[in-house]
Amino acid sequence: MIIGIDKLDFYIPNFYVSMTDLAKARQIEPEKFTIGIGQTKMAVNPVSQDIISMGVNAAQNMLTEEDKKDIEMVVVATESGVDHSKAASIEIHSMLNIQPFARCIEMKEACYSATAAIQLAKDFLSNRPDKKVLVIASDIARYGLNSGGEPTQGAGAVAMLISHNPRILTLNDDSVAHTTNVYDFWRPTSEKYPVVDGALSKDAYIDSFNTLWNEYTKRTKYGLNDFESFCFHVPFTKMGQKAFKTILSENVEDSTKNRLMDAYQDSVNYNRDVGNIYTGSLYLSLISLLENHEFQDDQKICLFSYGSGAVGEIFSGSLVPGYEKMLDKERHLDMLKSRKELTVEEYEHFFNRFDNGEFDLEQELTQDPYTKVYLDSIEGHIRN
Ligand code: CAA
Repeated sequence: MIIGIDKLDFYIPNFYVSMTDLAKARQIEPEKFTIGIGQTKMAVNPVSQDIISMGVNAAQNMLTEEDKKDIEMVVVATESGVDHSKAASIEIHSMLNIQPFARCIEMKEACYSATAAIQLAKDFLSNRPDKKVLVIASDIARYGLNSGGEPTQGAGAVAMLISHNPRILTLNDDSVAHTTNVYDFWRPTSEKYPVVDGALSKDAYIDSFNTLWNEYTKRTKYGLNDFESFCFHVPFTKMGQKAFKTILSENVEDSTKNRLMDAYQDSVNYNRDVGNIYTGSLYLSLISLLENHEFQDDQKICLFSYGSGAVGEIFSGSLVPGYEKMLDKERHLDMLKSRKELTVEEYEHFFNRFDNGEFDLEQELTQDPYTKVYLDSIEGHIRN
Protein backbone atom coordinates (compact mmCIF):
# COMPACT_ATOMS: atom_id res chain seq x y z
CA MET A 1 0.00 0.00 0.00
CA ILE A 2 1.43 3.38 -1.01
CA ILE A 3 0.48 6.27 1.26
CA GLY A 4 2.19 9.63 1.61
CA ILE A 5 2.22 13.36 1.03
CA ASP A 6 0.17 14.27 -2.02
CA LYS A 7 0.08 18.06 -1.56
CA LEU A 8 2.20 20.40 0.52
CA ASP A 9 1.96 24.16 1.10
CA PHE A 10 2.77 26.79 3.72
CA TYR A 11 1.86 30.25 4.93
CA ILE A 12 4.10 32.76 6.67
CA PRO A 13 2.62 36.04 7.95
CA ASN A 14 3.45 39.21 6.07
CA PHE A 15 5.94 40.79 8.53
CA TYR A 16 9.50 40.12 9.60
CA VAL A 17 12.33 41.67 11.56
CA SER A 18 15.98 41.48 10.52
CA MET A 19 18.18 39.44 12.85
CA THR A 20 21.01 41.94 12.42
CA ASP A 21 18.76 44.79 13.59
CA LEU A 22 17.47 42.70 16.48
CA ALA A 23 21.02 41.83 17.59
CA LYS A 24 22.08 45.50 17.47
CA ALA A 25 19.05 46.55 19.49
CA ARG A 26 19.92 43.91 22.10
CA GLN A 27 23.61 44.96 22.08
CA ILE A 28 24.70 41.56 20.80
CA GLU A 29 27.16 40.98 17.95
CA PRO A 30 24.99 40.34 14.85
CA GLU A 31 27.20 37.34 13.92
CA LYS A 32 25.92 35.49 16.99
CA PHE A 33 22.45 35.47 15.42
CA THR A 34 23.41 35.26 11.73
CA ILE A 35 26.28 32.74 12.09
CA GLY A 36 26.13 31.25 15.62
CA ILE A 37 22.39 30.57 15.43
CA GLY A 38 22.19 30.78 11.65
CA GLN A 39 19.12 33.00 11.17
CA THR A 40 18.70 36.00 8.85
CA LYS A 41 15.06 37.07 9.31
CA MET A 42 12.37 36.28 11.87
CA ALA A 43 8.70 36.07 10.90
CA VAL A 44 6.45 38.22 13.09
CA ASN A 45 2.72 37.60 13.24
CA PRO A 46 0.22 40.39 13.70
CA VAL A 47 -2.56 39.91 16.30
CA SER A 48 -4.86 39.19 13.37
CA GLN A 49 -3.00 35.96 12.49
CA ASP A 50 -3.57 33.14 14.97
CA ILE A 51 -2.89 29.43 14.46
CA ILE A 52 -6.35 28.98 12.94
CA SER A 53 -6.15 31.71 10.31
CA MET A 54 -2.57 30.73 9.45
CA GLY A 55 -3.71 27.11 9.03
CA VAL A 56 -6.49 28.14 6.65
CA ASN A 57 -4.14 30.44 4.72
CA ALA A 58 -1.68 27.53 4.34
CA ALA A 59 -4.27 25.04 3.08
CA GLN A 60 -6.73 27.13 1.05
CA ASN A 61 -4.69 27.29 -2.14
CA MET A 62 -3.91 23.59 -2.51
CA LEU A 63 -7.31 21.96 -1.95
CA THR A 64 -9.72 21.23 -4.79
CA GLU A 65 -13.47 20.69 -4.35
CA GLU A 66 -12.81 16.97 -4.88
CA ASP A 67 -10.24 16.93 -2.05
CA LYS A 68 -12.78 18.57 0.25
CA LYS A 69 -15.23 15.74 -0.48
CA ASP A 70 -12.57 13.08 0.15
CA ILE A 71 -11.05 14.44 3.38
CA GLU A 72 -12.21 12.17 6.20
CA MET A 73 -10.07 13.66 8.97
CA VAL A 74 -8.52 17.05 9.77
CA VAL A 75 -5.69 17.10 12.30
CA VAL A 76 -4.10 20.28 13.61
CA ALA A 77 -0.72 19.86 15.28
CA THR A 78 0.21 22.79 17.51
CA GLU A 79 1.84 23.84 20.74
CA SER A 80 0.31 27.30 20.68
CA GLY A 81 -3.34 26.30 20.81
CA VAL A 82 -6.00 28.91 21.56
CA ASP A 83 -8.35 26.64 23.52
CA HIS A 84 -7.87 23.79 26.02
CA SER A 85 -10.95 21.97 24.71
CA LYS A 86 -12.14 22.91 21.23
CA ALA A 87 -9.85 21.66 18.46
CA ALA A 88 -8.52 24.34 16.09
CA SER A 89 -9.28 21.93 13.25
CA ILE A 90 -13.05 22.47 13.75
CA GLU A 91 -12.82 26.10 12.64
CA ILE A 92 -10.36 25.21 9.89
CA HIS A 93 -12.70 22.45 8.66
CA SER A 94 -15.56 24.93 8.60
CA MET A 95 -13.67 27.75 6.84
CA LEU A 96 -12.35 25.36 4.19
CA ASN A 97 -15.83 23.87 3.57
CA ILE A 98 -14.70 20.29 4.07
CA GLN A 99 -17.48 17.67 3.96
CA PRO A 100 -19.28 17.38 7.33
CA PHE A 101 -18.63 13.66 8.03
CA ALA A 102 -14.98 14.25 8.89
CA ARG A 103 -13.18 13.80 12.22
CA CYS A 104 -11.49 16.91 13.63
CA ILE A 105 -8.84 16.77 16.33
CA GLU A 106 -5.88 18.70 17.67
CA MET A 107 -2.62 16.98 18.68
CA LYS A 108 0.09 18.01 21.09
CA GLU A 109 3.66 17.01 21.85
CA ALA A 110 5.73 20.13 21.34
CA CYS A 111 7.28 20.38 17.85
CA TYR A 112 6.86 16.64 17.23
CA SER A 113 3.08 16.34 16.92
CA ALA A 114 2.78 16.97 13.16
CA THR A 115 4.80 13.79 12.67
CA ALA A 116 2.42 11.89 14.98
CA ALA A 117 -0.44 13.34 12.91
CA ILE A 118 1.10 12.10 9.66
CA GLN A 119 1.67 8.61 11.09
CA LEU A 120 -1.92 8.57 12.41
CA ALA A 121 -3.14 9.62 8.96
CA LYS A 122 -1.12 6.84 7.33
CA ASP A 123 -2.64 4.20 9.65
CA PHE A 124 -6.14 5.69 9.30
CA LEU A 125 -5.97 5.55 5.50
CA SER A 126 -4.68 1.97 5.37
CA ASN A 127 -8.27 0.63 5.23
CA ARG A 128 -9.85 3.66 3.52
CA PRO A 129 -8.53 3.55 -0.07
CA ASP A 130 -10.56 6.52 -1.38
CA LYS A 131 -10.10 8.89 1.53
CA LYS A 132 -7.64 11.66 2.41
CA VAL A 133 -6.44 13.34 5.60
CA LEU A 134 -5.57 17.03 5.97
CA VAL A 135 -2.72 17.65 8.42
CA ILE A 136 -1.96 21.22 9.46
CA ALA A 137 1.03 22.22 11.60
CA SER A 138 0.51 25.77 12.85
CA ASP A 139 2.39 27.66 15.55
CA ILE A 140 3.54 30.99 16.91
CA ALA A 141 6.91 30.73 18.68
CA ARG A 142 7.26 33.46 21.33
CA TYR A 143 9.78 33.56 24.17
CA GLY A 144 9.42 37.21 25.24
CA LEU A 145 11.19 40.46 24.42
CA ASN A 146 14.82 40.46 25.53
CA SER A 147 14.66 36.76 26.48
CA GLY A 148 17.34 34.16 25.65
CA GLY A 149 14.97 32.47 23.22
CA GLU A 150 13.98 35.70 21.43
CA PRO A 151 16.21 35.13 18.35
CA THR A 152 14.57 31.74 17.84
CA GLN A 153 10.99 32.97 17.52
CA GLY A 154 8.86 32.77 14.36
CA ALA A 155 5.33 32.09 13.10
CA GLY A 156 3.72 30.12 10.32
CA ALA A 157 1.78 27.06 9.19
CA VAL A 158 2.33 24.09 6.88
CA ALA A 159 -0.54 22.15 5.30
CA MET A 160 -0.20 18.58 4.02
CA LEU A 161 -2.68 16.38 2.21
CA ILE A 162 -2.04 12.71 3.00
CA SER A 163 -3.47 10.18 0.55
CA HIS A 164 -3.03 6.91 -1.32
CA ASN A 165 -0.82 7.06 -4.42
CA PRO A 166 0.73 10.39 -3.33
CA ARG A 167 2.34 12.65 -5.91
CA ILE A 168 5.16 14.08 -3.75
CA LEU A 169 6.57 11.69 -1.14
CA THR A 170 5.76 8.09 -0.26
CA LEU A 171 6.03 7.43 3.49
CA ASN A 172 8.04 4.26 4.04
CA ASP A 173 7.23 1.72 6.80
CA ASP A 174 10.42 2.29 8.75
CA SER A 175 9.68 4.87 11.42
CA VAL A 176 11.28 4.60 14.86
CA ALA A 177 10.17 6.85 17.74
CA HIS A 178 11.89 7.50 21.06
CA THR A 179 10.55 9.04 24.26
CA THR A 180 12.50 10.32 27.22
CA ASN A 181 11.29 12.43 30.16
CA VAL A 182 13.27 15.68 30.10
CA TYR A 183 12.42 19.27 31.07
CA ASP A 184 14.27 21.07 28.30
CA PHE A 185 11.43 23.25 26.96
CA TRP A 186 7.83 23.18 28.16
CA ARG A 187 4.78 25.40 28.40
CA PRO A 188 3.02 25.27 31.79
CA THR A 189 -0.60 26.33 31.33
CA SER A 190 -0.12 29.15 33.85
CA GLU A 191 2.68 30.77 31.86
CA LYS A 192 2.54 33.20 28.96
CA TYR A 193 5.90 32.12 27.54
CA PRO A 194 7.69 28.74 27.46
CA VAL A 195 10.07 27.71 30.21
CA VAL A 196 13.37 26.82 28.53
CA ASP A 197 16.71 25.39 29.52
CA GLY A 198 18.46 26.41 26.30
CA ALA A 199 21.67 24.42 26.79
CA LEU A 200 19.78 21.29 27.91
CA SER A 201 17.39 21.63 24.96
CA LYS A 202 20.28 21.55 22.49
CA ASP A 203 21.78 18.48 24.21
CA ALA A 204 18.40 16.73 24.40
CA TYR A 205 17.84 17.33 20.66
CA ILE A 206 21.25 15.86 19.77
CA ASP A 207 20.81 12.91 22.18
CA SER A 208 17.42 12.13 20.66
CA PHE A 209 18.85 12.22 17.14
CA ASN A 210 21.87 10.03 18.03
CA THR A 211 19.77 7.47 19.93
CA LEU A 212 17.28 7.26 17.08
CA TRP A 213 19.89 7.09 14.32
CA ASN A 214 21.59 4.15 16.11
CA GLU A 215 18.30 2.30 16.51
CA TYR A 216 17.05 3.17 13.02
CA THR A 217 20.21 1.95 11.28
CA LYS A 218 20.18 -1.21 13.43
CA ARG A 219 16.55 -2.00 12.53
CA THR A 220 16.60 -1.00 8.85
CA LYS A 221 20.26 -1.72 7.98
CA TYR A 222 20.27 1.63 6.14
CA GLY A 223 23.31 3.91 6.16
CA LEU A 224 24.07 7.47 5.10
CA ASN A 225 24.47 6.51 1.45
CA ASP A 226 20.92 5.19 1.24
CA PHE A 227 19.73 8.81 1.39
CA GLU A 228 20.12 11.73 -0.98
CA SER A 229 19.49 14.06 1.92
CA PHE A 230 18.35 14.49 5.51
CA CYS A 231 15.72 16.85 6.83
CA PHE A 232 15.64 18.05 10.45
CA HIS A 233 13.36 19.86 12.84
CA VAL A 234 14.80 23.39 12.58
CA PRO A 235 14.41 25.56 15.70
CA PHE A 236 17.29 27.52 14.13
CA THR A 237 19.41 26.44 11.19
CA LYS A 238 22.54 25.73 13.24
CA MET A 239 20.69 23.17 15.38
CA GLY A 240 20.10 20.53 12.71
CA GLN A 241 23.61 21.06 11.38
CA LYS A 242 25.11 20.51 14.84
CA ALA A 243 23.18 17.25 15.28
CA PHE A 244 23.94 16.10 11.74
CA LYS A 245 27.69 16.64 12.18
CA THR A 246 27.72 14.15 15.07
CA ILE A 247 27.07 11.29 12.63
CA LEU A 248 29.26 12.64 9.82
CA SER A 249 32.31 11.32 11.64
CA GLU A 250 35.88 10.79 10.52
CA ASN A 251 35.01 7.38 9.05
CA VAL A 252 32.58 8.93 6.56
CA GLU A 253 33.98 9.69 3.10
CA ASP A 254 34.48 13.39 2.29
CA SER A 255 32.30 13.11 -0.82
CA THR A 256 29.39 11.81 1.30
CA LYS A 257 29.89 14.54 3.92
CA ASN A 258 29.98 17.28 1.29
CA ARG A 259 26.96 15.92 -0.57
CA LEU A 260 24.87 15.69 2.59
CA MET A 261 25.96 19.05 4.01
CA ASP A 262 25.20 20.77 0.66
CA ALA A 263 21.73 19.24 0.70
CA TYR A 264 21.30 20.32 4.33
CA GLN A 265 21.87 23.95 3.27
CA ASP A 266 19.11 23.58 0.65
CA SER A 267 16.81 22.22 3.34
CA VAL A 268 17.12 25.30 5.58
CA ASN A 269 16.85 28.09 2.98
CA TYR A 270 13.30 29.01 3.98
CA ASN A 271 13.75 28.34 7.71
CA ARG A 272 16.68 30.80 7.83
CA ASP A 273 14.30 33.60 6.74
CA VAL A 274 11.37 32.53 8.92
CA GLY A 275 12.62 31.29 12.30
CA ASN A 276 11.08 28.53 14.37
CA ILE A 277 7.52 27.55 13.51
CA TYR A 278 7.60 24.63 15.97
CA THR A 279 5.37 21.81 14.57
CA GLY A 280 5.78 23.04 11.00
CA SER A 281 9.57 23.53 11.06
CA LEU A 282 10.53 20.06 9.80
CA TYR A 283 7.95 20.29 7.02
CA LEU A 284 8.93 23.84 6.01
CA SER A 285 12.43 22.41 5.76
CA LEU A 286 11.11 19.57 3.58
CA ILE A 287 9.48 22.12 1.23
CA SER A 288 12.72 24.12 1.17
CA LEU A 289 14.67 20.97 0.27
CA LEU A 290 12.24 19.86 -2.44
CA GLU A 291 12.17 23.33 -4.02
CA ASN A 292 15.91 24.05 -3.81
CA HIS A 293 17.70 20.71 -4.27
CA GLU A 294 18.08 18.70 -7.45
CA PHE A 295 16.94 15.11 -7.00
CA GLN A 296 16.75 12.09 -9.22
CA ASP A 297 13.66 9.88 -9.42
CA ASP A 298 12.89 7.65 -6.43
CA GLN A 299 15.63 9.06 -4.19
CA LYS A 300 15.10 8.76 -0.46
CA ILE A 301 14.99 11.47 2.21
CA CYS A 302 15.54 10.74 5.91
CA LEU A 303 13.51 12.92 8.29
CA PHE A 304 14.18 13.67 11.97
CA SER A 305 11.31 15.08 14.01
CA TYR A 306 11.91 16.38 17.55
CA GLY A 307 9.56 17.73 20.21
CA SER A 308 10.91 18.85 23.58
CA GLY A 309 9.76 16.95 26.59
CA ALA A 310 10.83 14.82 24.65
CA VAL A 311 9.71 12.68 21.71
CA GLY A 312 11.78 12.16 18.57
CA GLU A 313 11.18 10.10 15.45
CA ILE A 314 13.22 9.12 12.40
CA PHE A 315 11.47 7.96 9.25
CA SER A 316 12.02 8.10 5.53
CA GLY A 317 10.17 9.08 2.40
CA SER A 318 10.74 8.17 -1.24
CA LEU A 319 10.33 10.85 -3.88
CA VAL A 320 7.61 10.28 -6.44
CA PRO A 321 8.71 11.00 -10.05
CA GLY A 322 7.20 14.29 -11.20
CA TYR A 323 6.93 15.65 -7.61
CA GLU A 324 8.16 19.08 -8.85
CA LYS A 325 4.83 19.67 -10.58
CA MET A 326 3.09 19.56 -7.19
CA LEU A 327 5.23 22.41 -5.77
CA ASP A 328 5.06 26.15 -6.33
CA LYS A 329 8.52 27.58 -5.72
CA GLU A 330 7.83 30.90 -7.46
CA ARG A 331 4.79 31.59 -5.31
CA HIS A 332 6.60 30.57 -2.12
CA LEU A 333 9.60 32.78 -2.88
CA ASP A 334 7.30 35.68 -3.64
CA MET A 335 5.40 35.17 -0.37
CA LEU A 336 8.68 35.32 1.57
CA LYS A 337 10.14 38.22 -0.44
CA SER A 338 7.04 40.39 -0.41
CA ARG A 339 6.84 40.53 3.40
CA LYS A 340 7.09 43.93 5.08
CA GLU A 341 10.14 44.62 7.16
CA LEU A 342 9.45 45.95 10.67
CA THR A 343 11.88 48.02 12.68
CA VAL A 344 12.72 46.52 16.08
CA GLU A 345 10.47 49.17 17.64
CA GLU A 346 7.55 48.17 15.41
CA TYR A 347 8.18 44.47 16.14
CA GLU A 348 8.08 45.21 19.89
CA HIS A 349 4.85 47.10 19.38
CA PHE A 350 3.34 44.11 17.50
CA PHE A 351 4.57 41.78 20.24
CA ASN A 352 3.01 43.78 23.07
CA ARG A 353 -0.26 44.20 21.17
CA PHE A 354 -0.43 40.40 20.78
CA ASP A 355 0.01 39.93 24.53
CA ASN A 356 -2.73 42.44 25.24
CA GLY A 357 -5.02 41.13 22.49
CA GLU A 358 -5.25 44.62 20.97
CA PHE A 359 -6.47 44.44 17.40
CA ASP A 360 -5.36 47.18 15.07
CA LEU A 361 -6.51 45.94 11.73
CA GLU A 362 -5.54 49.11 9.93
CA GLN A 363 -1.89 48.53 10.77
CA GLU A 364 -2.01 44.78 10.37
CA LEU A 365 -3.97 43.99 7.25
CA THR A 366 -1.92 44.01 4.12
CA GLN A 367 -2.83 43.75 0.49
CA ASP A 368 -0.70 40.64 -0.03
CA PRO A 369 -2.44 37.90 -2.03
CA TYR A 370 -1.43 35.20 0.49
CA THR A 371 -3.40 36.41 3.51
CA LYS A 372 -6.98 35.44 2.65
CA VAL A 373 -8.20 34.79 6.19
CA TYR A 374 -7.58 36.77 9.36
CA LEU A 375 -8.82 37.03 12.93
CA ASP A 376 -11.10 40.04 13.03
CA SER A 377 -12.11 40.09 16.69
CA ILE A 378 -12.89 37.97 19.75
CA GLU A 379 -16.32 38.55 21.29
CA GLY A 380 -17.55 36.58 24.30
CA HIS A 381 -14.57 34.25 23.76
CA ILE A 382 -15.81 33.48 20.25
CA ARG A 383 -13.25 34.06 17.53
CA ASN A 384 -14.52 35.83 14.43
N1 CAA B 1 29.93 35.06 16.12
C1 CAA B 1 29.62 33.80 15.74
N2 CAA B 1 29.06 32.89 16.59
C2 CAA B 1 28.78 33.29 17.84
C3 CAA B 1 29.08 34.60 18.30
C4 CAA B 1 29.69 35.51 17.37
N3 CAA B 1 29.98 36.74 17.71
N4 CAA B 1 28.69 34.67 19.58
C5 CAA B 1 28.16 33.48 19.93
N5 CAA B 1 28.21 32.65 18.88
C6 CAA B 1 27.73 31.25 18.78
C7 CAA B 1 28.03 30.42 20.01
O1 CAA B 1 29.34 29.92 20.01
C8 CAA B 1 26.97 29.33 19.86
O2 CAA B 1 27.38 28.38 18.90
P1 CAA B 1 27.64 26.85 19.37
O3 CAA B 1 26.31 26.33 19.90
O4 CAA B 1 28.05 26.18 18.11
O5 CAA B 1 28.68 26.91 20.42
C9 CAA B 1 25.78 30.06 19.23
O6 CAA B 1 26.31 31.31 18.73
C10 CAA B 1 24.69 30.37 20.22
O7 CAA B 1 25.29 30.86 21.36
P2 CAA B 1 24.77 30.47 22.83
O8 CAA B 1 24.44 29.02 22.92
O9 CAA B 1 25.71 31.07 23.81
O10 CAA B 1 23.42 31.31 22.80
P3 CAA B 1 22.36 31.51 23.92
O11 CAA B 1 22.84 31.06 25.24
O12 CAA B 1 21.95 32.94 23.77
O13 CAA B 1 21.15 30.54 23.51
C11 CAA B 1 19.57 29.24 22.34
C12 CAA B 1 20.84 30.11 22.23
C13 CAA B 1 19.81 28.12 23.32
C14 CAA B 1 19.25 28.68 20.99
C15 CAA B 1 18.40 30.15 22.85
O14 CAA B 1 18.09 31.08 21.87
C16 CAA B 1 17.15 29.36 23.22
O15 CAA B 1 16.99 28.96 24.36
N6 CAA B 1 16.21 29.12 22.24
C17 CAA B 1 14.99 28.36 22.49
C18 CAA B 1 15.24 26.88 22.68
C19 CAA B 1 15.64 26.17 21.40
O16 CAA B 1 15.36 26.60 20.31
N7 CAA B 1 16.29 24.99 21.55
C20 CAA B 1 16.64 24.17 20.42
C21 CAA B 1 16.58 22.70 20.74
S1 CAA B 1 14.99 22.28 21.42
C22 CAA B 1 13.95 22.15 20.08
O17 CAA B 1 14.40 22.00 18.98
C23 CAA B 1 12.48 22.28 20.30
C24 CAA B 1 12.03 23.65 19.94
O18 CAA B 1 11.73 23.92 18.77
C25 CAA B 1 11.94 24.68 20.98
